[in-house]
Amino acid sequence: MPKVLIIGACGQIGSELTFKLKEIHGSENVVASDINYNNLDVVNSGIFEIVDAQDYSSVRDCVEKHDIDTVYLMAAMLSATGEKYPMRAWDLNMTSLFHVLNLAKDGFIDHVFWPSSIAVFGPTTPATETPQHTTMEPTTVYGITKQVGERWCEYYHNKYGVDVRSLRYPGLISWKTKPGGGTTDYAVEIYHQAVQGNPFECFLSEHTELPMMFMEDAINATVNIMKAPSETIKIRSSYNLAAMSFTPLDISEVIKTHIPDFKITYNPDFRQHIADSWPKSIDDSSARADWNWHHEYDLEKMTTEMISQLRKQYQDSEINS
Ligand code: SER
Repeated sequence: MPKVLIIGACGQIGSELTFKLKEIHGSENVVASDINYNNLDVVNSGIFEIVDAQDYSSVRDCVEKHDIDTVYLMAAMLSATGEKYPMRAWDLNMTSLFHVLNLAKDGFIDHVFWPSSIAVFGPTTPATETPQHTTMEPTTVYGITKQVGERWCEYYHNKYGVDVRSLRYPGLISWKTKPGGGTTDYAVEIYHQAVQGNPFECFLSEHTELPMMFMEDAINATVNIMKAPSETIKIRSSYNLAAMSFTPLDISEVIKTHIPDFKITYNPDFRQHIADSWPKSIDDSSARADWNWHHEYDLEKMTTEMISQLRKQYQDSEINS
């Protein structure tokens, strides 16, 4: 059984990945870690360590203590927060990646997963069905860190034989843990407001189309790319990954089929500029061909699931309060 470490396990992706990896490898083979105890479900679910992803000794000590061979590095500062704290975003996103890549180069660990993003693309990229290999001139600090990170992943693979694998996630939508500081976060918050019977003011304009994905698909993609035989992973920078694309208007219309009174208004802020620089849709045929990626959730199926799960969640929290 591999022994895996998730860095950033309290976050939006890390928390669900932690539970999935426990199912697959057994709880005793999965170490969850974060810089704080922000998600008590994760903290109390098994082995949990405080790890500072920017501190090499902190990461290495945890790897050695638990005899880790695979690291999922999920700690990052996302696009919107990154624009507020550019140097902090650069430091966190790059330093943590170098620490993990160097641990692999130096033989402490054998396998690395590192997430990239649609934010690697920019205004000069073809916006529809964005190809795997294309012009990449990102305009956000987050996008720059992801693009540079992809180059370093490929470099460490080619030069040192490091088994690093990566996905360019689109906006991710889940009902378990909220995202923080991203441009696509509206597509999660909209469900929370709708289910509580509230109107929703969207920080993107009604026709802003972005690539999105339900978390279950994203977690399956992550698990499957890590399971695939090494020779099938032909791209060692990062794979395009897609499921659906929609606008705030599209998602609000589908929500209205469940909650007819739902109201949305639009008040675009600085995140509109970020969204405008990103693709509308993604060509992920390389992932589909190389390691058999396929998605399960479209906008309708995801909305049905989000609304039913969030209804339960809010009802339970009322009963318990
Ligand atoms: N969801 C991320 C963001 O909005 C994109 O990778 O920043």
